[in-house]
Amino acid sequence: MIKQPLQHLAVIMDGNGRWAAQRGLNRTKGHEKGAEIIRDVTTYCAKHPSIETVTFYAFSTENWKRPKLEVEFLMKLLDRYLQKELVTYQENNVKFMAIGDIEAFSPKLQERIRLTEEKTRHNTDLIHILALNYGGRAEITHAVNRLIAEGKKHVTEKDISGALQTPYSDIDLLIRTSGEERVSNYLLWQISYAEFYFTETLWPDFTPQELDEIITDFEQRTRRFGGLS
Ligand code: IPE
Ligand code: IPE
Ligand code: MG
Repeated sequence: MIKQPLQHLAVIMDGNGRWAAQRGLNRTKGHEKGAEIIRDVTTYCAKHPSIETVTFYAFSTENWKRPKLEVEFLMKLLDRYLQKELVTYQENNVKFMAIGDIEAFSPKLQERIRLTEEKTRHNTDLIHILALNYGGRAEITHAVNRLIAEGKKHVTEKDISGALQTPYSDIDLLIRTSGEERVSNYLLWQISYAEFYFTETLWPDFTPQELDEIITDFEQRTRRFGGLS
């Protein structure tokens, strides 16, 4: 039996809009509350003995299909979030990184993202990754094109893993909130042997206590990686 510690956690934060709708609020209120949950979960992960990396899905390559006002709100919220949470990253020794094509964002937001990465790059307790304008297929395609540009005629799995933006490939556990049971173009290469956990909880209601219970569940699973237990 292979018992592996949880090192890389990935989270699809879903259900912000439904959380707001249930309260008769605008969807934006759900996103605001959702951003606070990211902070709580990050603080938990920084203190956790085995988690090294947590990767949150914050904006997908498909989310541009949403109404312009919602997209604009999400961009502003991200800027505010990074500005406000820099202190959380520093106090908890957390290194911030973005994956995805952030060049589609405003120069001001790109600058905020780069600055946050720069200011936190020496922190060592946790790598906190936000997937921003991220798509799994786009990431793989980009990696392959990079290898072609380097002159490679034949690529190995190791080459592709190394050319991806996500620094640590393999996901141990993928959690999706809100009862939806799909991957929505997230970390397609990296989830190849991930354990999945789907919870009905809407992201704004998610708590570090629930995460703790999910991790206990994960630790009781047997991961065989194709072998025998
Ligand atoms: C997840 O919540 C946040 C983002 C995708 C940015 P949703 O906004 O998808 O919430 P629901 O799925 O509509 O409830
Ligand atoms: C996935 O949620 C993307 C993020 C959480 C950022 P969506 O709500 O966009 O996914 P679908 O459209 O329901 O699959
Ligand atoms: Mg959704």
